Amino acid sequence: MRFTNKTCIVTGGGSGIGLAACLQFAREGARVAVADLHVEAAQQTVAAIVAAGGTALALAVDVGNSAQVQDVIAKTVAAYGPIDAIVNDAAMMTFTPIVDIAEADFFHVITTNLGSVFYFCKYGIPHMNDGGAIVNLSSVHAHATTANVVPYASSKGAIEAFTRGLSIELTARKIRVNAVAPGAVDTPMLWNNPNVKSGAEKVTGAIGKPEDLAAAICFLASSDAAFVNGTTLVVDGGRLANL
Ligand SMILES: NC(=O)c1ccc[n+]([C@@H]2O[C@H](COP(=O)([O-])OP(=O)(O)OC[C@H]3O[C@@H](n4cnc5c(N)ncnc54)[C@H](O)[C@@H]3O)[C@@H](O)[C@H]2O)c1
Repeated sequence: MRFTNKTCIVTGGGSGIGLAACLQFAREGARVAVADLHVEAAQQTVAAIVAAGGTALALAVDVGNSAQVQDVIAKTVAAYGPIDAIVNDAAMMTFTPIVDIAEADFFHVITTNLGSVFYFCKYGIPHMNDGGAIVNLSSVHAHATTANVVPYASSKGAIEAFTRGLSIELTARKIRVNAVAPGAVDTPMLWNNPNVKSGAEKVTGAIGKPEDLAAAICFLASSDAAFVNGTTLVVDGGRLANL
């Protein structure tokens, strides 16, 4: 029970990796704020947590909207007190070449994926307990990628740099900042990816379960990772190592 009496916010908690992380945080005693664009999905996550005897609340948010992010933080603190862990999981992809993509669509990806990390850190950190942790979801696409997903890959590369730099700013408060870079994980995001459907992105190797990623996220959020800071943990079943 590593998170007894701890308060966690998980974005994208209505599906996939975020859902699995919410369930594990709650199993280990946390009060979980489940934030998602699809509030019905967040409510289903909360219902599963409450049915198992845990504590959670569902919050609607577009993570790329500063005012809505600030509202999530205010409601979480009002309900559960200061925050111990923030997991920035929610993200989106586009599948259009750079020369064809609309400017607004490029910046929508950057704002949703990277801007959200900025907003939750900028407005969440002042409400965090010293000794807390932030875990940002990157991707193997920050390291090796395919055509037509440049906005996504760029946002994930930037998240890793953001994570590294922010960790230095928070050492005095002992708030650790790390990232997890998943490989192929069995979630709707993987199977809705047209590059995966067409075979342009090959996922013939190991495919992870959302619970595999939740284990890594909860490790980094816990005191088990007390000496892990400013880094990215690749959790891909060895995919990046396999040429
Ligand atoms: N599944 C994979 O193979 C894989 C691989 C590498 C990285 N990742 C990363 O893992 C994270 C989780 O992905 P997943 O596979 O669980 O995806 P998923 O599609 O199963 O879940 C994503 C959740 O985020 C929510 N969301 C999307 N946009 C949002 C917004 N603007 N505001 C609030 N919520 C929003 C969705 O409603 C959904 O509930 C993402 O950061 C993704 O980039 C996933």
